Amino acid sequence: MRIAIVGPGALGCLFASLFFQKKQSAENSLWLLDHNQERAALLTAQGIIYETDKGQERYPISVSSDLQAISSTDIVLFCVKSQNLAGCLHSCLPLLSPQTLLVFLQNGISHLDIQERLNLPTAPAFASSSEGATLLGSGHVLHAGRGITYLGFLKSPTERHQQQLAELARILQKAGLNVALSQDIRSQLWAKLFINAGINPLTALYNRTNGQLLTSCAARGRLKNIVHEAETVARACGITISVDPLQATLAICKSTAKNISSMLQDRRHQRPTEIDAINGAIVREGKMAGIATPFNEEVMQQIKKMEEKYNQDTTRTEAI
Ligand code: PAF
Repeated sequence: MRIAIVGPGALGCLFASLFFQKKQSAENSLWLLDHNQERAALLTAQGIIYETDKGQERYPISVSSDLQAISSTDIVLFCVKSQNLAGCLHSCLPLLSPQTLLVFLQNGISHLDIQERLNLPTAPAFASSSEGATLLGSGHVLHAGRGITYLGFLKSPTERHQQQLAELARILQKAGLNVALSQDIRSQLWAKLFINAGINPLTALYNRTNGQLLTSCAARGRLKNIVHEAETVARACGITISVDPLQATLAICKSTAKNISSMLQDRRHQRPTEIDAINGAIVREGKMAGIATPFNEEVMQQIKKMEEKYNQDTTRTEAI
């Protein structure tokens, strides 16, 4: 199986490292793709650093910025931020054959209509992962906690793509990940959405770790309201809810207490956040279902203001 992973972020580096560790057979090959040419060269020279509480390993994974590398792959796993997915696909699609299985691993739900939006010829697969991965530096991932990765299709796949997804699940399982094929990937993505909606914007606004949200009355109260609102919208959209969303979110705050959420990391690096794909998506779905979402709306506006502020700061610094 020839696999390409697009995006050397935390999950991209994690999946690449685990795949590389247990490559399993000579027929399996891996490319990591990065649109940033300079960083790709740096990562190829330094290797991908995989860290756990037991220590560090450095893997000589070749990272390319040449998109031609994906033209001969069987599976492409997109680990880019939700807001960058469409742009990334525009560059990749002309090089891909319809035989190649596309797998999307993004936070939120605003990429779920990507097949229709970009007129993809076949049904792509979607993934949702709760592996705890933090990027400590370029190409340096900390694997802080074990989770579960769900893979599945929203629409009927071709038989070939169905087999390819089953093979990907087998390879990732052999690489040590807890992986399950899901018949209801939409509900799995919503289950992760509840957690991201409650934790990510509040950690970013209050500049707190996930665990610190539990010790602040104000943050905890807002988290509860945001998640309850999201649950009401989900039920109206016919999403199957098998685990209580609030309890699941509080449990993740506890089990990842020291984690700097991805949105707080974005704030600290002054990068655009995934707010539109997370709380923004809940607001949009709420509107369509006729459900008011004031708590998600409020937190979304606050994050947007925060982004605007650091954009202005960057402009000001650049102008000096
Ligand atoms: O985006 C994140 O940071 C993670 O998905 C989660 C689960 C909130 C843990 O930090």
